[in-house]
Amino acid sequence: MKALLLCGGEGTRLRPFTHTQPKALLPLGHQPILFHILDTLAATTIREVIIIIGPNGKPITELLRRTNPWGFDFTFVDQPVPLGLAHTVLLARETLGNTPFLMYLGDNLLDEPLRPLVNRFVCEKPDALLLLRRVKNPRHFGIARINGQNVIQVEEKPEHAQSNLALVGVYLFSPAIHQAVQAINPSPRGELEITDAIQQLITTGKNVTYHLLSGWWKDTGTIADFLAANQYLMKKLAPGVDGEVKKSTVKGVLRIAPGSTLKNCQVLGPVTVGTGCRISGSTLGPYLAVNDGAEIVDCNLSRTLVLANAHLKGVTLTNSIIGERVQINAQQKTAAARSLLVGADAVLEL
Ligand code: DAU
Repeated sequence: MKALLLCGGEGTRLRPFTHTQPKALLPLGHQPILFHILDTLAATTIREVIIIIGPNGKPITELLRRTNPWGFDFTFVDQPVPLGLAHTVLLARETLGNTPFLMYLGDNLLDEPLRPLVNRFVCEKPDALLLLRRVKNPRHFGIARINGQNVIQVEEKPEHAQSNLALVGVYLFSPAIHQAVQAINPSPRGELEITDAIQQLITTGKNVTYHLLSGWWKDTGTIADFLAANQYLMKKLAPGVDGEVKKSTVKGVLRIAPGSTLKNCQVLGPVTVGTGCRISGSTLGPYLAVNDGAEIVDCNLSRTLVLANAHLKGVTLTNSIIGERVQINAQQKTAAARSLLVGADAVLEL
């Protein structure tokens, strides 16, 4: 089997952070979303990964050409305009050939191994195997109706949902999906919907089955979900003190990369610090992820992501995302925590 990984789209709901980098490269915990997904795929038997790249996706191609610890055979397919999930299947048609494939939406994270699912698909050979999960807000997702082991209807974000079983952003397809994608038209929102292609499979009598997910799943499409995903992933952070930690107290898990120093700090893990960071006189954590090259002086930071090369002085922050190269300088340190979302290169004097 091959994998089709969708990293196109514009990530509008994660602006301003997606103005300067593709959503897939935004970090969660100690690594980009994309790397969490590739770790999940690496634990299956899949070795060929086709990645859909959007208009701002060049950094993805560059990064994966330099870094490929999984040993994947990558192919990159450009999608200049996000014309829908089924549109990416059309674009990748030639590269996919007549092989069955696993389609993975590049903003979804799961805490469930995919290997048993891939094995089931290879053994049972249905035309589609969908991952479903019960949700409280079905209007925000593609929704499936089932009967026994069969999926009997799918609908994209219905106004009045007839079930609470959402389509998780992972689908396994036989080559029959190509004919179905050819047969559909753009939806009222102008996209070729994968749900319409799946409905086409059902209508033409193909075997569409499902797996009910019980574990954690997050579509990281919004800022709130993004911060929630960060906390979930950081709970599983493995410790690793490769940087220098001086005159500091550490409780809980700390991961600090080589070339970083932490001095006169109080750490309440989980906390992760990338390479080349200088941090002093600060209270850090829980759920703090600091990316490469950041400088932090006299701050109190929890439940926050500090992106690469940001410089923070004298701030108390919680539930915040601080963009790349942002500079924040507080004249007076306040005890009350602020929640800030600051896009790249901003300069704030507080
Ligand atoms: O998260 C699960 C949901 O994902 C499903 O329940 C829905 O049925 C499915 O349509 C999808 O809904 P979203 O509204 O979350 O889709 P979104 O437009 O955010 O796209 C999902 C990912 O696919 C995102 O990482 C960007 C990528 N993408 C999207 C489009 C429309 C592309 O690569 N190309 C595209 O044309």
